[in-house]
Amino acid sequence: MILRLDPARLQGQIDSLAAISEVPPPTVTRILFSEADLRGRAFVTNLCHEMGLQVAKDAVGNLFARWPGTDPNLAPVATGSHIDAIPNAGRYDGVVGVLGGLEALRALKESGFKPRRTIELIVFTAEEPTRFGIGCLGSRLLSGALSPKKAAALRDIQGRTLEQWRKQAGYADRSLESVRQPKNCYAAFIELHIEQGPILEQEGVAIGVVEKIAAPSTLHVELTGVGGHAGAVLMPERHDALLAGAEIALAVEESALSTGHPDTVATTGVFRIEPGAVNSVPCRAWLEIDLRDTQQSSRDEALKRIEDRIPQICQRRGVVCRLERINADDPAICDAGLVERITEVCHELGLSVKKMISRAYHDSLFMVRICPTTMIFIPCRGGISHRPDEYSSPEHIGDGVRVLAWTLQKLAA
Ligand code: GLV
Ligand code: MN
Ligand code: MN
Repeated sequence: MILRLDPARLQGQIDSLAAISEVPPPTVTRILFSEADLRGRAFVTNLCHEMGLQVAKDAVGNLFARWPGTDPNLAPVATGSHIDAIPNAGRYDGVVGVLGGLEALRALKESGFKPRRTIELIVFTAEEPTRFGIGCLGSRLLSGALSPKKAAALRDIQGRTLEQWRKQAGYADRSLESVRQPKNCYAAFIELHIEQGPILEQEGVAIGVVEKIAAPSTLHVELTGVGGHAGAVLMPERHDALLAGAEIALAVEESALSTGHPDTVATTGVFRIEPGAVNSVPCRAWLEIDLRDTQQSSRDEALKRIEDRIPQICQRRGVVCRLERINADDPAICDAGLVERITEVCHELGLSVKKMISRAYHDSLFMVRICPTTMIFIPCRGGISHRPDEYSSPEHIGDGVRVLAWTLQKLAA
């Protein structure tokens, strides 16, 4: 079988999708359910139709593009990723797994290959946590890791619920309960993604195969202090919500450092205040905290430390605090058999390969719970991600797509 990839066409599609953004190029922002997100979905849907795939979407907007196999009794093999992008992101995170997955299917189709198992491309809804503060919304629901009741109650910063948004987007013809898929509904799930770290580039390795995904957790903190005139309220009288938040952010840093484990990382990535006037004492603050580790025990240790410190800080400052643990997920162990198969494919293709841990989370973190799963990583320049200057070369993307295509071929034959 001869597989002919078209890296130039793929790069053209990546660039076209990057232009569908809430902000001007080279920056990409595509927040869940924004106009750009919906247009991005339409762009991908259109490509799937052009390729003759059967397209379906579920009640949360996860998109499924199927290439039916000759034996409908066999569980499909799936690939895919996400196209939503955090504020001020680049063009490769998630997109390489979606458009690269489509390119793999296209090359297999054009080679004359007839799969026995159905091959399916999945575009997951909201891998990024920007709108509702929780990552991997689509794959959490699909795998049963998030209850439909909890999901329905999620609210964004304007107070709009997931129910309202999905109605507006046209996904509400079924209930969120229908999103969940049974165990082993797929024979395998393989996600192609940029590494989002520097290791492959530094070591000059073409392909990473993921054995483990680090355990993420998220906390939301709402602080209510007492506002007032910046000239009139004397310092001993203050209950400044921003200062409580600032102290919490420092405690978050300290908690990560305190585990002594180099893989514990903690970030206060959202910090909003009200009223946000230079001559007014901040009366309210909202923080979103991201804490992760490749090792669950040290993640949990740091998480407990932060959760203990927050009420202490707020009590001392006379600030009322509402603390919510949004998620504290287990790390994911990928399927050893799939890791070996992909490693073999790399050897067959003459590509250098390395087994690795993903520090970023992915929809694979949840697909692991319902089917054998792993990820194919490709190098990205400087290990940079979640920035406009994120970059992966057409050659590296081509290597990743080739490995994906051959792996799908073997699994679906
Ligand atoms: C995914 O975008 C992550 O934050 O790891
Ligand atoms: Mn991301
Ligand atoms: Mn991603």
